[in-house]
Amino acid sequence: MSQKMTVLLVFFLFHFYTTTSSDPDPVQDFCIPEPKHGSQGTVRFIGSACKNISNVTVDDFVFDGIRSPGNFTPMGFAGLSVNPTIFPGLNTLGMSFVRADLNVGGVNVPHLHPRATEIAFVIEGMVYSGFVDSMNRVFAKVIRKGEVMVFPKGLVHFQMNVGDSTATIFGSFNSQNPGMERIPIAIFGSGIKGELLEKAFGLNAREVEMLRRKFNP
Ligand SMILES: *[C@@H]1O[C@H](CO)[C@@H](O)[C@H](O)[C@H]1NC(C)=O
Ligand SMILES: *[C@@H]1O[C@H](CO)[C@@H](O)[C@H](O)[C@H]1NC(C)=O
Repeated sequence: MSQKMTVLLVFFLFHFYTTTSSDPDPVQDFCIPEPKHGSQGTVRFIGSACKNISNVTVDDFVFDGIRSPGNFTPMGFAGLSVNPTIFPGLNTLGMSFVRADLNVGGVNVPHLHPRATEIAFVIEGMVYSGFVDSMNRVFAKVIRKGEVMVFPKGLVHFQMNVGDSTATIFGSFNSQNPGMERIPIAIFGSGIKGELLEKAFGLNAREVEMLRRKFNP
């Protein structure tokens, strides 16, 4: 095979792999990570040893950390993301979740999860909720208590409390590690060269500096 063909083949296989891969199916009922591995911060969930089954209890599968909201940001948003790092029972199961609370007028800024589709269930309140597809079409509307919206994997989405009381949302992800990029911080808080930002957004140096200060995490 010529070198060119090999390069093409490798490219194709890699492309195929990355566009079809997702969290793997578990090959056992569960794998509660061994605390001594999990807590050291060197080995996390992938490749960490599982707890001896005879030491696993029902409490390994119960999580009580989202009974109340997290800390609200100045934008009136409180998010508690729950993945195997804080709820080891999720490990290898291909799922994770979030509790989100929004004060009146509060905003969950446009963001995306590179590795997961999200199902958002409104437990309380009225939320303007939507996403933008890869043709830059916006799909957004006000959803209410008891209603559900799905945000397709990797697409930018957002929420704002448009009701007159706190809104609470339970979000569920089809990955144990969905990842998260908040657009304002990813763009202005990440250290991208100022000159590029000026050109990309048609801003002057002072405006870019102001946005950088604002979104520096
Ligand atoms: C099981 O739990 C007991 C009591 O906490 C502990 O002493 C023991 O080392 C554990 N065994 C394993 C294999 O994790
Ligand atoms: C798990 O623990 C049980 C009871 O302590 C023990 O008999 C068994 O050998 C352990 N299994 C492994 C894989 O360590």
